[in-house]
Amino acid sequence: MTVLALLLAYLLGSIPAGAWVARLGGIDIRTVGSGNPGATNVLRALGWGPALLVAAFDIFKGVLAVLLARLVLDDAFVEALCGALAVLGHNFSVFLGFKGGKGVATSFGTLLIIDPLLGAGAFCIGLFCIVTTRLVSAGSMVGAVSALVIALVLSRAAWEIGVVGFLAALLVWQHRDNIKRLQSGVERRLGEKAAK
Ligand code: G3P
Repeated sequence: MTVLALLLAYLLGSIPAGAWVARLGGIDIRTVGSGNPGATNVLRALGWGPALLVAAFDIFKGVLAVLLARLVLDDAFVEALCGALAVLGHNFSVFLGFKGGKGVATSFGTLLIIDPLLGAGAFCIGLFCIVTTRLVSAGSMVGAVSALVIALVLSRAAWEIGVVGFLAALLVWQHRDNIKRLQSGVERRLGEKAAK
């Protein structure tokens, strides 16, 4: 049952909402803006409506992966692993040739269910950073690292710190191109239109 839950979580996470919504809008999301099939890039390419739809669906993938595991198993660690598998599915999607996004929304959905206080805290810190800088990538990384700091400050269980640390490290790694752009001052800010 555990293996089935993990596999289902990976497949759920793999559903590339951003790529498919963009395709419905007549766009190959991998060829515009940052090339990332996430809500931020869909916003650049297609506007707020499609972007919010993608963000909601990607958050929902993390939420559902954890809740489904909770429904059939009684193991908080396996629930968290299912959330992590959903994020891995999002980042390395079977439907996109094992490529994908950066896991921000799906990690948030996962954290919100495995530890609501931690998820909400990290979200508020990340959102504050995004609103003040208009840099979604920077805010996402700050939010992810905050989640790990909150887990440590609240003395969460070792397994939870491990999962949160893994998700934070993966999220920062997936933003390595953004980090280069941030360092050279050419990172796109929220509201800037997509350019090839
Ligand atoms: O959701 C990913 C975000 O943090 C950065 O997206 O398109 O600017 O690389 P993007």
